Amino acid sequence: MKIQHQVNLQQFNTLSIQSVAEYFAQPQNFTQIQACFDFAQHNSLPIKVLGGGSNVVMNDSVSGLVLQYLGDTFEVIAESDSDVTICVGAGLNWHSLVMMCLDKGFFGLENLAYIPGHVGAAPVQNIGAYGVEVKDYIKRVNGVYLANRETFSFDNVQCDFAYRESCFKQALDGQCLITSVEFRLPKIANVKIDYSPLKQMSQEQGVPTPRELADWVIDVRKSKLPEPLELPNAGSFFKNPVVSVAKFNALSEKFPQMPNYSDGDQVKLAAGWLIDQCGLKGQYFGPVSVHQLQALVLINHGGNALDVESAAQAIKSKVHAQFGIELEQEPRTFM
Ligand code: EPU
Repeated sequence: MKIQHQVNLQQFNTLSIQSVAEYFAQPQNFTQIQACFDFAQHNSLPIKVLGGGSNVVMNDSVSGLVLQYLGDTFEVIAESDSDVTICVGAGLNWHSLVMMCLDKGFFGLENLAYIPGHVGAAPVQNIGAYGVEVKDYIKRVNGVYLANRETFSFDNVQCDFAYRESCFKQALDGQCLITSVEFRLPKIANVKIDYSPLKQMSQEQGVPTPRELADWVIDVRKSKLPEPLELPNAGSFFKNPVVSVAKFNALSEKFPQMPNYSDGDQVKLAAGWLIDQCGLKGQYFGPVSVHQLQALVLINHGGNALDVESAAQAIKSKVHAQFGIELEQEPRTFM
């Protein structure tokens, strides 16, 4: 493993932002992680942990040592007739994990097929799509504290999961390296097809097997979401906002078509719809545009973090002016 000086991170972030890391390394095991920690300590460098780079807005330069952990082990640690517990290296590609599980007859993750990024990032923002959140299948998250190299192993409750949230984005933000994630998965198929495009497909084609469902999800994603290598993007750029019932009632009088989903005693709205209603699909803000097919996705055409953030700010202002709703950004600044 090399620890490289002055590395361009453009190929390590899906918004394809040019950014120079002071130092960069890709450890693959604990010995190499320790070597990186030694180097950082010796040179008084802060450590910054990068996953697959699909949910970050890269600053022009990143000081310290950027670590991208690539350990991609896959281990069955417990198994019964009905379910299995696996422990997976945080550096494995997420979609590869979904496909490996389906090949082995381990189910549950099929709705989360084709999400970009690494396994270690999945718990950080509690990835979710088509009616499933990864928290439903995570048993434990294991890692190392950057400050003192002590290891941790949190159970599901300790991770404090919520919609696109966990303790790793909140109380422990920037403080740890996740090394592996344990998933408990059913071996008996129980496909989740409530999300409307999937429901419609099952009405036309019958109840799918988990593998068929993954293929449907891949098709739906490909039809709406741009491929980062063709059109650099970071998936949904904003979270779907959650509002009170009173606020929702007032809005739905004015906008009766507004998509909405109940969320406990509140109501979740579709940020993509709100941006779309402001007429912003396809609109450019400097070198950043709103995707033609899914207004929640921003495309970067050669801009930097400031360009992306000023586009995001302009969109937030327009949505606020029209609906009185403050959108919250999903990808985080990496600096
Ligand atoms: N809509 C529009 N115009 C648009 C976009 C959406 O009218 O430009 C409407 C749709 O017609 C639909 C509603 O808004 O009625 C919701 O849209 P969609 O089903 O495409 O999902 P979303 O709420 O925009 C969320 C996740 C996605 C996930 C999909 C499917 C968030 C922030 N985003 O998007 O996650 O794939 O649901 O479950 O929760 C991601 O996080 O990067 C991501 C892609």
